[in-house]
Amino acid sequence: MEEVVAGRAAALAVVLLLMAAAAAAPLCCANDPTAYFDWDVSYVTASPLGVPQQVIAVAKQFPGPIVNVTTNWNVVVNVRNSLDEDLLLTWDGIQMRKNCWDDGVLGTNCPIPPGWNWTYDFQVKDQIGSFFYFPSLGLQRAAGGYGGIIVNSRDVVPVPFAKPDGDITLFIGDWYIKNHTDLRKMLDDGKDLGMPDGVLMNGKGPYRYNATLVPDGIDHETINVEPGKTYRFRIHNVGVSTSLNLRIQNHNLLLVETEGTHTLQQSYTNLDIHVGQSYSFLVTMDQNASSDYYIVASARFVNESLWTRVTGVAILHYSNSRGKASGPLPDPPNDFYYKGFSMNQARSIRPLDQPPRIGTSVINGSYRGFMEIVFQNDDTRVQTYHIDGYSVFVVGCVQATSLPFNRPYAHDRMDYGEWTEDRRDTYNKWDAVYRSTTQVFPGAWTAVYVSLDNVGIWNVRAENLDTWYLGQEAYMKIVNPERTNKTELPVPDNVLYCGLLQYLQKPQTHKHSSASSVTNGGKLLAWVLLLASLAMVP
Ligand SMILES: *[C@@H]1O[C@H](CO)[C@@H](O)[C@H](O)[C@H]1NC(C)=O
Ligand SMILES: *[C@@H]1O[C@H](CO)[C@@H](O)[C@H](O)[C@H]1NC(C)=O
Ligand SMILES: *[C@@H]1O[C@H](CO)[C@@H](O)[C@H](O)[C@H]1NC(C)=O
Ligand SMILES: *[C@@H]1O[C@H](CO)[C@@H](O)[C@H](O)[C@H]1NC(C)=O
Ligand SMILES: *[C@@H]1O[C@H](CO)[C@@H](O)[C@H](O)[C@H]1NC(C)=O
Ligand SMILES: *[C@@H]1O[C@H](CO)[C@@H](O)[C@H](O)[C@H]1NC(C)=O
Ligand SMILES: *[C@@H]1O[C@H](CO)[C@@H](O)[C@H](O)[C@H]1NC(C)=O
Ligand SMILES: *[C@@H]1O[C@H](CO)[C@@H](O)[C@H](O)[C@H]1NC(C)=O
Repeated sequence: MEEVVAGRAAALAVVLLLMAAAAAAPLCCANDPTAYFDWDVSYVTASPLGVPQQVIAVAKQFPGPIVNVTTNWNVVVNVRNSLDEDLLLTWDGIQMRKNCWDDGVLGTNCPIPPGWNWTYDFQVKDQIGSFFYFPSLGLQRAAGGYGGIIVNSRDVVPVPFAKPDGDITLFIGDWYIKNHTDLRKMLDDGKDLGMPDGVLMNGKGPYRYNATLVPDGIDHETINVEPGKTYRFRIHNVGVSTSLNLRIQNHNLLLVETEGTHTLQQSYTNLDIHVGQSYSFLVTMDQNASSDYYIVASARFVNESLWTRVTGVAILHYSNSRGKASGPLPDPPNDFYYKGFSMNQARSIRPLDQPPRIGTSVINGSYRGFMEIVFQNDDTRVQTYHIDGYSVFVVGCVQATSLPFNRPYAHDRMDYGEWTEDRRDTYNKWDAVYRSTTQVFPGAWTAVYVSLDNVGIWNVRAENLDTWYLGQEAYMKIVNPERTNKTELPVPDNVLYCGLLQYLQKPQTHKHSSASSVTNGGKLLAWVLLLASLAMVP
């Protein structure tokens, strides 16, 4: 692994309790439609917070284009790396069955060198919903490079709500004016990234809701809607590390989906969205349009009176609106001393199917074929964790009453929130939500069950970019002892080789530059070994 700077980063306690052989996945269907994309990934200059800076654009767009496909479709994306450093795009939450070769993280994929192109080729399986892609290497996501992925249900599969009148993707995330190479240097030097400079919404800075707090001349996002209509908002927190509270002035958010699971539909006036998480809400335009309305994403789990600049503001504009939005922003939840609100909100998110498919095995205490992972967060910040190739059942998180939130920024892990085996008795085994990215509150733990049905090597990581960069990641290696390609696709013909296997890589020639070879470095060693050991598995 790359040199790990342990620093003050939270301990990632991955408790691998029981592993069993993976179940065979069904054979892939070659006749499914294919969506093709041809993307150039490059720097462009933008000034989202009023200061010009280099951001990463996909096909010259920031945020990048939306991949809009249907269950079982194949997705082929030719990615040209026009950055000045290595690149990999990863497809957050997409469960590529049998295929970790296109996952796009170090450990399973060699990076695309600058000037090269490489073609991803994968199939989106029987999962519906809202996901996003982003550049996975060295804090590049802090410079952009992200875009949405929508996986629609096939016509024959009913969706548990009427077709909305429109579909709106909204990226929210904290943002720094320093570029990602400068941010990287800070972490390398053992520094903290400090308070972000703002929050972007769809790559744009805040609406000028307050002339003191927001400088003039910043471009903001406007969402245009028709009165009386209902829209599906797909909201992704693509930021570096700040949890954000999302709210739309005077409008209710009806939660219907999170990361590929239709949830029990519940109405919220605001919802906390942690880094790396995706949610779909239905919002009905039921107001009288006396003015435009604010859409707000403000920092959470920090001293909010000090972090006022870390607030994103976009505008919801009815076609019959009679004026601009004005006045104060709608209030965030007033619970600084009791974050049980957020905790209870997390627990209130329930899947639609009850009980879930795996309920019996878990309740039985028979873990065969499952892995239990306990994420323990000893940091003072909320952390989110993500598992590639899988969704997990979030079965438990520490009780709100035992959390140290009445003493912000301090925690005593001897007294609070340490996971112990008897905590299993408190797990939610009936209707645990099934998702790919779960938050872990400060001084607390979250337990998940993973059904090991996807062969390959899969990345388990912190989604908070700084924490991930500092080394919080691991891999699950799921091997089928049976010699068959039914559960795992063979190494694709176009696989990139690097590190110890670099000699296998053919050079690429390009029209505008001479042949170049793959960059190398000591840090590549460990994951090349991983790659090699996978290749050697029968
Ligand atoms: C995605 O594609 C479907 C048709 O396949 C279309 O109905 C829908 O409007 C598209 N959604 C977006 C957000 O472009
Ligand atoms: C690079 O892009 C060209 C087309 O521009 C394509 O023919 C070629 O297959 C791509 N190479 C890889 C390794 O994907
Ligand atoms: C980031 O900014 C520094 C100056 O602060 C500059 O030297 C460097 O080239 C920039 N990097 C990128 C990728 O824009
Ligand atoms: C703008 O924000 C400042 C600082 O928080 C506050 O003092 C002022 O009252 C706000 N102005 C308006 C018009 O709300
Ligand atoms: C429109 O709604 C606002 C509050 O949402 C209310 O103050 C106002 O009186 C309403 N205007 C009309 C014309 O109904
Ligand atoms: C938040 O910061 C303000 C300004 O420094 C300070 O007065 C206040 O006590 C802080 N609140 C908490 C709960 O620490
Ligand atoms: C419970 O687990 C045992 C083995 O641990 C297994 O034989 C049995 O079939 C399981 N029962 C159910 C209902 O899953
Ligand atoms: C899987 O293996 C069978 C038999 O070894 C072979 O005929 C087939 O081409 C393989 N399929 C793929 C996709 O490689």
